[in-house]
Amino acid sequence: MHASGDSNDMQAAGAHGLSLAPGWASDARMIRERIPGPVLVTGAAGFIGSHVAERLLSAGVDVAGIDNFDPMYDAGIKRRLSRRLEAIPGTSGAGALRMWEGDLNDHRGLADFLNVARVRGAIHLAAKAGVRPSIADPVGYVNANIAATSALMAQAQRLGWDRFVMASSSSVYGNALTVPFSEEQDVSAPISPYAATKRACELLAHTHWHLTKMPTACLRFFTVYGPRQRPDLAIQQFMVRIARGEGLTLFGEGTSRDYTYIDDIVEGVLASYIQIPAFGYRIWNLGGENPVSLDDMVGTIMQVVGRKVEIQRRGMQPGDVMRTWADLRRVKSELGYGPRTTFADGVRRQWEWNLEEGLAKA
Ligand SMILES: NC(=O)c1ccc[n+]([C@@H]2O[C@H](COP(=O)([O-])OP(=O)(O)OC[C@H]3O[C@@H](n4cnc5c(N)ncnc54)[C@H](O)[C@@H]3O)[C@@H](O)[C@H]2O)c1
Repeated sequence: MHASGDSNDMQAAGAHGLSLAPGWASDARMIRERIPGPVLVTGAAGFIGSHVAERLLSAGVDVAGIDNFDPMYDAGIKRRLSRRLEAIPGTSGAGALRMWEGDLNDHRGLADFLNVARVRGAIHLAAKAGVRPSIADPVGYVNANIAATSALMAQAQRLGWDRFVMASSSSVYGNALTVPFSEEQDVSAPISPYAATKRACELLAHTHWHLTKMPTACLRFFTVYGPRQRPDLAIQQFMVRIARGEGLTLFGEGTSRDYTYIDDIVEGVLASYIQIPAFGYRIWNLGGENPVSLDDMVGTIMQVVGRKVEIQRRGMQPGDVMRTWADLRRVKSELGYGPRTTFADGVRRQWEWNLEEGLAKA
């Protein structure tokens, strides 16, 4: 392990012979052989958590899942995802699942569950996500993100886990003028409570690593999309409205986002879980490397759905950033990460999922 914290030590993963080629995570055997279970996945009934847990379980890795079914968006969606996860252990070669419906801030309940689950490490994805709602509920975000992450780290230390991987966000870059955003640039000017809580979690993660020497990774996700995307996120909202022939209101002309397809994110999460012991503490960007303007995003969705609707334009919303764009040099060289899904393909797959689920019906 390197004692250099987040310094620029590029040889670590290579030195351990762990380099992974893009696409490796579609091989179940590779996952099973490299990830010792059980693995804790928090936020397991959410968008990204359900995909990560599903990939692990299907590959034969045992998973312990936690989710409090926060009603920030329709909890029925999370119930369906949770039931889907619970069905996987019945399939051949799958791992075992132990789910706890509980809140990370319920310290007694959390300790009891973890005493029984006996996990080796955590992929911590639970959070109140989203920029705009955080402005209305900053205290809720501090509790669900900062306090809950701190509570989980205390358990990790008590139980002596061998690694800790957690979700951060591209929002920590705020309105930084230097693009693409690199892990080494200053991130001391967040512009929403959500972004501030995610940066605070990164700082807690550094302290956790410093005091315990438990390998700890922070992953800065850049707007994730694909099947099961949260209904409050723009692509999913627009897709449903366009399919129903309803008009769109666009906020923030000239803005752009580096969208990242869910399968690329899952691969990056698993690669970081495997390789973080070679680094100690590390921050990695997980992006799509291809910023898309708001107009192009809407145009692509209309093309895929096969319908045009009326558009009204408004100014920027408070807390929203102008652009995001991930610099992937570090994560490519250290984790072998490489996004493989084009925006048009990803949007098409999200649309197919909407059709299968009947979500786009008026
Ligand atoms: N989706 C994105 O584009 C994106 C971008 C950047 C970062 N992230 C981060 O990735 C992670 C997953 O995001 P997502 O889009 O899947 O969101 P999500 O809301 O679908 O999933 C998060 C899950 O955490 C659960 N949860 C919240 N607070 C909890 C608590 N105190 N105890 C237990 N469970 C709790 C929620 O019920 C939810 O199911 C989050 O940490 C989010 O901040 C997401």
